[in-house]
Amino acid sequence: MGNTSLAGRKILLGVSGSIAAYKTVFLTRLLVREGAEVRVIMTPSAAAFVSPLTFSTLSRNPTRHELMSESEWHNHVELGLWADLFVIVPATAHTLSGMAEGRCDNLLLAVYLSARCPVWVAPAMDLDMWSHPATRRNMARLVADGVRQIDVGDGELASGLSGPGRVAEPEALLEEIRHFLAPAPVFEGMEVLITAGPTREALDPVRFLTNHSSGKMGVALADEMARRGARVHLVLGPAAAAPCHPGVETIPVVSATEMMEAAATVFPRCRIAIFAAAVADYRPATTATGKIKKQGDSLSLELVKNPDIAASLGARKQKDQVLAGFALETDAGEEEARKKLKAKRLDLIVLNTLQDAGAGFGTDTNKVTFLTADNKTRRFGLKSKKEVAADIADELACLVQAAP
Ligand code: C5P
Repeated sequence: MGNTSLAGRKILLGVSGSIAAYKTVFLTRLLVREGAEVRVIMTPSAAAFVSPLTFSTLSRNPTRHELMSESEWHNHVELGLWADLFVIVPATAHTLSGMAEGRCDNLLLAVYLSARCPVWVAPAMDLDMWSHPATRRNMARLVADGVRQIDVGDGELASGLSGPGRVAEPEALLEEIRHFLAPAPVFEGMEVLITAGPTREALDPVRFLTNHSSGKMGVALADEMARRGARVHLVLGPAAAAPCHPGVETIPVVSATEMMEAAATVFPRCRIAIFAAAVADYRPATTATGKIKKQGDSLSLELVKNPDIAASLGARKQKDQVLAGFALETDAGEEEARKKLKAKRLDLIVLNTLQDAGAGFGTDTNKVTFLTADNKTRRFGLKSKKEVAADIADELACLVQAAP
């Protein structure tokens, strides 16, 4: 009897037509032993490699591969809503291209378009197919759409060639899935402050100064920290993004001054503080009580400095508190980020530069570098903001452990 860390979790496996499909048989068995509820869907060509009956028997659920059957014309929507996680393993070059283009000519692709849960792909193909510009392009597009790519292995391939393109091993995939769906509650009993979103600085009753921050990164962090057991206080500026985990208490604010006040209230009892908000550096010196009238050809505004929330709370930091901030730089990124790390007394600063395609405001992806107070630097590739949040949570777990 295995352990049951995945009890009650619903995992949808999508199998496409590669010889590596036999490994998904083992993965199905491992997931079921771990307590997960598993359903399998296949592309028509996958059924040439492994019988649907094999998957039905091991998953204890019928395997589906038809887009349309008389009784279940809508099953792609139902499956897409049912799953907590959709893992496409093995993902062939053909399936990756169909997903990237939004094609919908088989059940697996239709479910992909309907899925509301996170989607992962574990590619499997020959090394030349894997390195072909078309596959690179499709993969980059999928990552930009929020799909997580599981690393391919490097070694002997079914063709007899050797190189990158092997599908991830079932045990490694199980570990990734377990880490994602049942993360260890490393932040149990800890309170965490997160500032997120933009701020709005009122000019008059109808106008304000703001920025392009969507709040997505901070909200993803709030959910991720809560999933790992933290009680999160999310001080959130005006943003459409909203957390979904019940362990997150949202404190809505509008201006930098309000954000400062709310953050300062909860900060003393928090073990970790993450400053992810894009706070306006300046605000209008006065807010007009009536709408400012259109007059001459130009209008000058006097602005005054806003409080630097990270810096002021950094100055009050206690020994056991761990603080993280963000730096969005256009040039000399790492050098500038290090200066901020020191000046604000942070333990970690997450740098993203606007030069990287897919990084920064509004997007669902980010490309970041971690700089820590102990002078370490870690650079990451383009990832979804949810994955970046998981990487930050991993780093914070290490920093908290190292803190006295
Ligand atoms: O100095 P800069 O604005 O680039 O620093 C960015 C970091 O400082 C971010 O973590 C941001 O949330 C935080 N910050 C803040 N209050 C401000 C300005 C920035 O908390 N007024």
